Amino acid sequence: MTGLEKETQTSAERLETFRRVPFVRRLSTKLLLLTVVFVLVAEILIFIPSVAAFRLRWLEEKLGTVAAVGAVLVQGGPATLPRAVQDDVLEAIGVQAIAVRDGGISRLLVVTEVPPEVDEHIAVSEVGWVDALSGAADTLLWGGERLLRVYGRVGESDKQFELVMTDAGLRSAMLVYARNIALLSLLISLLTAALVFIAINRLMIGPIRGLRRSMLHFARAPDDPTRIIRPTGRRDELGVAEHELANLQTQLQKTLSEQKHLADLGLAVSKINHDMRNILASAQLLSDRLATLKDPTVQAVAPKLVRAIGRAVSYTGGVLAYGRTQEPTPQRRRVRLRQLVDEVFGLLGMDGAGIDFVNDVDAGFEVDADSEQLHRILSNLSRNAVEAMAADRETAVVRRLTISAERTGSISRILVTDTGPGLPQKARENLFAAFRGSARSGGTGLGLAIASELVKAHGGTLELVESVGGRTVFVITIPDQPLRLDVARSTLRRPA
Ligand SMILES: Nc1ncnc2c1ncn2[C@@H]1O[C@H](COP(=O)(O)OP(=O)(O)O)[C@@H](O)[C@H]1O
Ligand SMILES: [Mg+2]
Repeated sequence: MTGLEKETQTSAERLETFRRVPFVRRLSTKLLLLTVVFVLVAEILIFIPSVAAFRLRWLEEKLGTVAAVGAVLVQGGPATLPRAVQDDVLEAIGVQAIAVRDGGISRLLVVTEVPPEVDEHIAVSEVGWVDALSGAADTLLWGGERLLRVYGRVGESDKQFELVMTDAGLRSAMLVYARNIALLSLLISLLTAALVFIAINRLMIGPIRGLRRSMLHFARAPDDPTRIIRPTGRRDELGVAEHELANLQTQLQKTLSEQKHLADLGLAVSKINHDMRNILASAQLLSDRLATLKDPTVQAVAPKLVRAIGRAVSYTGGVLAYGRTQEPTPQRRRVRLRQLVDEVFGLLGMDGAGIDFVNDVDAGFEVDADSEQLHRILSNLSRNAVEAMAADRETAVVRRLTISAERTGSISRILVTDTGPGLPQKARENLFAAFRGSARSGGTGLGLAIASELVKAHGGTLELVESVGGRTVFVITIPDQPLRLDVARSTLRRPA
């Protein structure tokens, strides 16, 4: 097998794996059928009136022939023609009787032996289009053995001629005509459909297939720049679509490569961070030992060193945790909020010397949440508030942290309010953005980001609704989770 053969084979295989649209579902098949149907409908709309017109024309011609014969007969008078000749004349023209009407007087020119009884009267020049259509249908469907009386003026003549005939001849002429027209219509509609099909295939379906192929090709290796679609330069909607696809693919590729860099960087950071934490841990041990020495200089410096290293350790710990964790989906239960807030405050008690903790939640208040995660959310918010208020050196200011809650329908709102100095500009600009929002030394800028992520996992929102000097309010909004009826039903057994 030559190299070329191998290559064509693999590319054919690749094409094979593109999902093929079955023939009946193809756009081109649908279009083909629709075109045939539409053209046929149009042809039928033309077909019926044209058959009706044919019928009238046929009758007019017949009347014309009758008029020509009649004109000759009028000259001679009825008595001049023997019976046999009269029959021959009628036979030749295909009618049963001929009459002329002149100045209000009707005169029978020739007639077969039995004067016929007429079924239908047609004034050829006065037939309206409704009558023409219904008459044509009538003749086609039920005609063949009826007698018609046809009359009217022919050309400029002042005489009106009349004829009586069976409609058998008319009907067979109409049938031939209708068959020809129908065949022609079918031919035209097939031809049109074929042309439309070819045109649409070339103009639309082909390019759409091209777009699709390009998407699939790109999807296989989105980081390969040669796989971005090259617009063909057409100016119609498909051209625009090609351009937009190209833009999209370029954008996607850029984002992908950025993400990859970020991921690499993140990996590097977490490695460095990990080692750093080990180094810091040993430094912490040493500094703890150092703090036990009695030397006054050491005693003055050591506590600061211990605190600094402690902060560094918790920083690296926080970053590592953030890098690693994919927060689990909340295991939601009914949680007594008042109790939870008490626990949170209890853990904060140590740090928050001189701060009032007010648990303003009603004893019966319940919230539908993962209690562990809600605990973390409230801890993060409370700790921030405590840190902000503790940093305020003035002794006279009120330091109070209040947590309250309210419920509207199935939505719980938990308010975390403090009397601290409010969020600094930097924190406000990067609210809830990981690593960016920290405005204090030793802060990671992760607390609010994590809290917000956890609230979102509950289908809720975390918002900063107010932050001025003296009053900062964060609101957690959590909707109760809807009851899954199907699950609830399947776990219930029907009563026997
Ligand atoms: N209640 C608050 N009062 C004042 N500032 C706050 C409050 N909550 C958060 N902040 C500010 O927002 C910043 C970001 O908070 P956070 O995301 O928890 O990160 P970190 O606490 O690690 O700095 C904090 O550094 C602080 O400046
Ligand atoms: Mg924090």
